[in-house]
Amino acid sequence: MSSPANATSSQTVPVVIAVPRELIPGEQRVAMVPEIVQKLTKSGYEIRVEHDAGKGAFYPDELFIAAGAKIAPGPAGLLEGARIVLRVQPPTVADVDQLAEGTIVIGFMNATNNLAAIARMRDRKITAFALELVPRITRAQSMDALSSQAMAGGYVAAIMGAENCPKFLPMLTTAAGTIRPATVLILGAGVAGLMAIATAKRLGALVEAYDVRRAAGEQVRSLGAKFLELEINAEGQGGYARELTPEEKEKEQQMVSAAVAKADIVITTAAIPGRKAPVLITRETVAMMKPGAVIIDMAAESGGNCEMTQAGKTIREHGVLIIGPQNLPARVPFHTSQMYAKNLQSFLSLLVDKNGAVTSDFSDEILVASLLVHAGEVRHKQTLDLMSGVRS
Ligand code: NAI
Repeated sequence: MSSPANATSSQTVPVVIAVPRELIPGEQRVAMVPEIVQKLTKSGYEIRVEHDAGKGAFYPDELFIAAGAKIAPGPAGLLEGARIVLRVQPPTVADVDQLAEGTIVIGFMNATNNLAAIARMRDRKITAFALELVPRITRAQSMDALSSQAMAGGYVAAIMGAENCPKFLPMLTTAAGTIRPATVLILGAGVAGLMAIATAKRLGALVEAYDVRRAAGEQVRSLGAKFLELEINAEGQGGYARELTPEEKEKEQQMVSAAVAKADIVITTAAIPGRKAPVLITRETVAMMKPGAVIIDMAAESGGNCEMTQAGKTIREHGVLIIGPQNLPARVPFHTSQMYAKNLQSFLSLLVDKNGAVTSDFSDEILVASLLVHAGEVRHKQTLDLMSGVRS
């Protein structure tokens, strides 16, 4: 393959990829890691990394330099002449103002909560690809950052549950008596939920799980956990869950409440893309739980699956610890950055044409689906609908 080159200039000028330091508090991840830098520089890209961008994930500047990257002391030197910017968190309006027209930004865009920056990208003719919009098709699996990060979130949630539980998770037979295993209930068996199930199983707990999609049952059982059956199948478009009818919600509530009441740890991951998370654990259900029980509400950032969850906080109600964690993948930044960078490497391969130049042909179905803003227009229908009247 020839070297990726800037389409608007000579073929000998390498495409410059910039990797800024993430500035959101608590964000320890970085969009690129030395291992992938080495591969990208070999393919002809020039990689520029902002000073200390990898510090929080334990990738010091020296490792980036050894892998072939250049370190830029600050945003100005980093972005000068950059064709592509790789990010974890969405850019802010101030970030967008530093970009030259035509720059391509790739990362999570969290469009619903970031309309002002999206309007600014539109007005400054920035091209933005949102990784959360990459379709869940087989060919796109290696670029599925939603999955790689959700998987890490599920792992951390299970560990967090174990850490905050006043009981052992495994069954133990000791001279001081026999310890019964703890019961862990996972609500929502998507990517994060399945990883939480696998992790809790490895720790020796009795694991039960529930999901509105009946197809999840087989995956849950294959991990050695019990699947709670309800006479509802709410599999909607594209394999995602659809919203339940009021009668279905009532039935679900009764079954879930009974399972929650006897669990030692409940991990909730139930989400419906683009909507507020469904409430699965009401105030009344929390009151029925055992003292010392723990709820890890992975949906805290989208409203919470537990009615009492407060995002970013840990509270105790009726003796039950309710944790509303934010940004769980950032708690294992070394590996989540590595996986994210690998997702980006795969995505970048779609952006280079047969001459090694950044393509202006975004007709590949993965690019079509994930293209959020381009050439002064918002290209994603739902975001466009939300944006009427939003000025930059
Ligand atoms: P998500 O983060 O949108 O939701 C998490 C889970 O919560 C889902 O399994 C969903 O069914 C469940 N849920 C929603 N409402 C619920 C309710 N009221 N009660 C109980 N559970 C509820 O989902 P995620 O993890 O992003 O996966 C979504 C789908 O995409 C799944 O079908 C998954 O298997 C599929 N997928 C396919 C991939 C591929 O083929 N490349 C890759 C990753 C995911």
